[in-house]
Amino acid sequence: MIIVAYLLGSIPSGLWIGKIFYHRDIRKEGSGNIGTTNTYRVLGVKAGTVVLVMDILKGTLAASQPYFFHVAVNPLLIGLFASIGHTVSIFDHFHGGKAVATSAGILLAYNPGLFAVAATIFVSTLYLTSMASCASIIGISSMFFISLFIHDTILAWIAGLLSLLVIYRHRSNINRIIHGKESMVSFGLGQYL
Ligand code: G3P
Repeated sequence: MIIVAYLLGSIPSGLWIGKIFYHRDIRKEGSGNIGTTNTYRVLGVKAGTVVLVMDILKGTLAASQPYFFHVAVNPLLIGLFASIGHTVSIFDHFHGGKAVATSAGILLAYNPGLFAVAATIFVSTLYLTSMASCASIIGISSMFFISLFIHDTILAWIAGLLSLLVIYRHRSNINRIIHGKESMVSFGLGQYL
C-alpha cells in the first residue's frame, strides 16, 4: 500500500497535462511549480481544474487503500506517502510539487467533514489575501491545530508532518511574501490591499 501510495502521488498531473495537451513544460513557466496554481496561471482555468481534481484524487485513492483491502491501518499513515511521492516524484527525476492538493485528498479519504473545514479555511484565506501559497500553508496547518482540539493523535502527527513538508516546499513563496513580491491570483480582496 505504501508503494502504491508513493507511485500514485508521484503522478505529475500538471507536468503531463501541460506536455500532452498544450505542448508546454510548466516547470519552465510561472513559478515553475507543477501544481494547480501554476497550471492555472500558465495554462488557464480548464487545465488548472483538471490538475486540482487529479491531484486531490491521487491522495484520496492512496489513502483509501486500507478501506479497499479491509486492512486496519489508519488511512492517513498510507496517504502520507502519496504526498511524499508528489514532492519527490519518480516520474519527474525526484522533483515535484508542493503537496497541497494531494494532502487535501488524503484528508478527504480520512474525514470528509475535516476536508470541508480545511477547504473553507483555504478559500477564505485565498479570498482575503489572493495568495494561493498563503492559503495553502494556513489551510494545511489549520488541520494540525484542529487535531489538537479534537484529540486526534494520528491526525496531529500526520497534519504536523504535512504542514512541515508544505512549509518547506513553499520556502521561495514565503521569501516572496516577506518581500511583498508574491504573485497573486485574480480572486478576492488581497489584490486590492
Ligand atoms: O499549491 C501550490 C501553491 O500553494 C503555490 O503555488 O505556483 O504560486 O508557487 P505557486
